[in-house]
Amino acid sequence: MKKIGIIGLGNMGEAILKALLNANYKTEDIVFYEIKKERAKYIEELYRIRCLDSYGDLIRESGYIIVAVKPQDARQTLTGIAPLIDEKKVIISVMAGIKISNILSVTDRPIKVIRAMPNICAKVGEAATGIAAGKGIEEAELKDAREIFSCLGSVIEVGEELMDAVTALGGSGPAFFLFFLEAMIDAGVKMGIPREKSKAMSIQVIKGTIKMLEEEDVHPSILREMVTSPGGTTITGLTHLEKKAFKGSIITAIEKAAKRAGELSSWL
Ligand SMILES: NC(=O)c1ccc[n+]([C@@H]2O[C@H](COP(=O)([O-])OP(=O)(O)OC[C@H]3O[C@@H](n4cnc5c(N)ncnc54)[C@H](OP(=O)(O)O)[C@@H]3O)[C@@H](O)[C@H]2O)c1
Repeated sequence: MKKIGIIGLGNMGEAILKALLNANYKTEDIVFYEIKKERAKYIEELYRIRCLDSYGDLIRESGYIIVAVKPQDARQTLTGIAPLIDEKKVIISVMAGIKISNILSVTDRPIKVIRAMPNICAKVGEAATGIAAGKGIEEAELKDAREIFSCLGSVIEVGEELMDAVTALGGSGPAFFLFFLEAMIDAGVKMGIPREKSKAMSIQVIKGTIKMLEEEDVHPSILREMVTSPGGTTITGLTHLEKKAFKGSIITAIEKAAKRAGELSSWL
């Protein structure tokens, strides 16, 4: 595989780096460029990989250039690297909401771009990463991108038109889910269960449910029906959720997040 260069070693850049090293990529096959000198020194010392002095150095050494800066820094970063990219290099952008066409509008000529959208669960090797290939990407390059992001968790390939939906579902998904978990914990507390016990119980309920879902390999509604006995406690609670349009609220929240992801491209 071609050498990997990472631009921007913040939260996501570091999560990617860590996952690659855990998956036995060699320190000499990864380089990076980070604008904050102190941060660069910290990363160099912790992971023993080299921070290069300029975009030029990074692009000369790398075949895959992972751009992991904030969307608001996209224009400055892409303007800096665009003149240095040739047809052998592949840009892999993890920037939320930034479309391949936005990137090409800055570079002003055809270059190879792959969009990838991992989520924060990359930190524990359980990310759900959506990837979409731009024009001219060869099968071997897409395979390498899949391999890179499979170090972070699972990889789901989609057309670029679905990347905003992937950003909402995968990127914001953990926050929505945690919000639900918070509500479960608070419900326990409201009924008198001490907070720590309510938290431990709620987390175990979710862990157990996910494990069962994976082992049974069925649609969630099948498992849900199994615990919904006639005239019982579960159907009583579910009826309230239905009255409050629980499912509809979640669907709308994720759709709204996707719409917002689409708006982020205006930063470029
Ligand atoms: N965090 C997530 O869970 C997540 C998930 C999916 C996708 N992403 C995407 O990943 C990207 C990075 O997010 P993050 O949370 O890692 O942000 P972050 O922690 O702010 O990291 C970005 C890093 O890049 C540096 N930087 C800015 N401009 C640069 C440049 N021109 N050259 C080199 N380094 C530069 C920043 O320095 P300064 O602080 O000085 O600007 C910062 O250290 C974003 O586009 C985001 O949409 C993040």
